[in-house]
Amino acid sequence: MSEAVTVRVPAKVNVQLAVGAARPDGFHDLANVFLAVSLYDEVTATPAETLTITCEGPDADKVPLDRTNLAARAAELLAARHGISPDVHLHIAKDIPVAGGMAGGSADGAGALLACDALWGLNSSRESLLEICAELGSDVPFSLVGGAALGTGRGEQLTELPVGGTFHWVFAVADGGLSTPAVYGEFDRLTEGTDVPEPTASPALLDALRTGDTTALAAALTNDLQPAALSLRPSLAATLTAGTDAGALATLVSGSGPTTAFLVKDAEAAESVAAALIASGTCRTARVATSPAPGAVVLPA
Ligand code: C5P
Repeated sequence: MSEAVTVRVPAKVNVQLAVGAARPDGFHDLANVFLAVSLYDEVTATPAETLTITCEGPDADKVPLDRTNLAARAAELLAARHGISPDVHLHIAKDIPVAGGMAGGSADGAGALLACDALWGLNSSRESLLEICAELGSDVPFSLVGGAALGTGRGEQLTELPVGGTFHWVFAVADGGLSTPAVYGEFDRLTEGTDVPEPTASPALLDALRTGDTTALAAALTNDLQPAALSLRPSLAATLTAGTDAGALATLVSGSGPTTAFLVKDAEAAESVAAALIASGTCRTARVATSPAPGAVVLPA
């Protein structure tokens, strides 16, 4: 048995988030096009007397260290499936914005799952890991898979998508988080009494990903949760405007927010848009990244 296993897991941006009407179970059917981006958390699993979690990073104080952390739940679910005790220490080196709409919590769940599987020598199949991921949360399967994928159902049923090039992004990190259930609740309020169409993936968007065409992707970005996120956090409008003024090709709230995403033409544009966003004073900080990024991967010891 190894002494420590470290797994690196990417953040995501939703390049299309089409949201249907609320289902009887409270979830929403989605056509959710995930794209993994090169901001990563690292989860290290080491043997311990009992399940414990620590976290380091600029936002570490905002990460719950109890059993509500998806990393802890992942260890518990995996151990329960194998009839063993989840005696592991999980250390999260956090670089993905917390509660930002970039699936940071989901990344830690997928990372802990893969790290514990390797630490405990379980060699679980991909299918079995994906089943546990889906149990952990709608975005967790994609954190394991990475790359690009269309998520249907509540977002957990994945079809991997081809990506024909590298896309350059800037992410503006807002002060404080937004609760995903609250944003979906606001979506329900804003769409009450209207006919919410069935969510479907945009052929133009899938084509833009396949051909690696940044201009076409910029024209096709959509997020049905954006009005709800802006309604709960009106100050995000100023961040989006600052990005447009700085020359971003397209702007978007990332998932349920409050992180905002800016698609730019190349690495140089990314640096200048990030600097302009920071100088605008409309966000806490800005990060540059590229996509696609690989899914969860065990790092060499
Ligand atoms: O699946 P996950 O636990 O990440 O979802 C968090 C919350 O986001 C859910 O409790 C629900 O309120 C909302 N959600 C939804 N429809 C989805 C995914 C999430 O309403 N497809």
